[in-house]
Amino acid sequence: MEKKFIVVGVSGGIAAFKACQLVSDLSKKYDVQVIMTKNACNFVNPITFETLTKKKCLVDTFDRNFEFKVEHVSVAKACDVFVVVPASANVIAKFANGIADDMLSTTMLACNKPRIICPAMNVNMYENPATQHNLETLRNYGYTIVEPGVGYLACGDEAKGRLADLEDIKEAISIALHEDKPLAGKKVVVSAGPTMEAIDPVRYITNHSSGKMGYALARAARNMGANVTLVSGQTSLSKPYGMTTISVTSAEDMYQAIVANQDADIIIKAAAVADYTPVEVATQKVKKSDSDMSIPLKRTKDILKYLGENKRANQVTCGFAMETTNLEEYGNEKLTKKNADMIVCNNVLVEGAGFKGDTNVITIITKDGMKRAIKDTKENLSYIILEELIEILKTKEGN
Ligand code: PMT
Repeated sequence: MEKKFIVVGVSGGIAAFKACQLVSDLSKKYDVQVIMTKNACNFVNPITFETLTKKKCLVDTFDRNFEFKVEHVSVAKACDVFVVVPASANVIAKFANGIADDMLSTTMLACNKPRIICPAMNVNMYENPATQHNLETLRNYGYTIVEPGVGYLACGDEAKGRLADLEDIKEAISIALHEDKPLAGKKVVVSAGPTMEAIDPVRYITNHSSGKMGYALARAARNMGANVTLVSGQTSLSKPYGMTTISVTSAEDMYQAIVANQDADIIIKAAAVADYTPVEVATQKVKKSDSDMSIPLKRTKDILKYLGENKRANQVTCGFAMETTNLEEYGNEKLTKKNADMIVCNNVLVEGAGFKGDTNVITIITKDGMKRAIKDTKENLSYIILEELIEILKTKEGN
């Protein structure tokens, strides 16, 4: 497959140094062209980008050293996504007002592809009504703005204006690259990660879920256009860009968060939820003694079952089944018992499947049959699962 073509515009601000890392990361996966403003060249030398992209870095519209084509138009036409990192107050003002007086602004004006603006500047410049008005204008023109973060700014202030995390910028690019949006207008809720059931202020019962499977599903649903709510147990993963994330700890917290969002069109329960929780949580640390001990446990609420019992006609619910034997038999049992539309089974004893890794091996069970042992990355499997769920949703909606 031909590599996607990403144009990275770099304008004059200290955060230009972060664009080097971004361009380096993007170049591993995409064909990247960098365009710099003259002011940006005061912060980073174009040679840095030329080395990273193996391509001439464009700065001057009237440079005569390239093959004959109208360079700003041909670049604008060829690109799949145009991202400006960092976007200074000055270039934002130019883009918002249709000013085209250098290579970056001219190419931007000629571009009708997805455009992403990543502002970075001093807080007063960012909060200035003129900048806010210009950003609003760009939003109305269909640009995506990846909001700056709060933190230490080069001017010494601790405030909003820091370039967004590079991971968020990369995620905004992957959303823009995913042209197919079959879930546009739909709400998708995904649960991910483990639950933790407190024994006392020091100890808890949990499991090995890293959250990777659920996070991959949430990202794929977001890329397919859905409005996503991720209900996440405690994981070491960072909050994904472009969705609402609700952080929970126990099975009861997860139940409350899912129930509050049960208006979703599709609910996917990839979380590994505790089936049992201590009857009582000790308020002080339980002291050890020389004898053995046992902790009385009670059942948690079965969230997937609750969803099955309270399902709307056009709603789709999908559970996972983590098994070590009789995958299909137990999966089918869960499909019926929990009135789910799909159960995705995985066996932790199979190589490349289950907890923590980047891959999984899944068997998809629906009322219409079964797809066995599909092995792939959790990212790719997420699209396969969602495509199946979309078909079920379409059937329910009569489309
Ligand atoms: O997070 P990773 O490290 O990437 O690992 C992914 C995974 C192995 C956790 C994932 O692929 C997976 O299998 N998740 C479900 C694990 C599990 O709890 O399976 P189960 O068979 O015990 O539960 C069946 C279904 O009922 C699940 O959808 C579960 O979310 C749901 N459930 C379970 C108990 C409960 N009290 N409420 C529930 O809703």
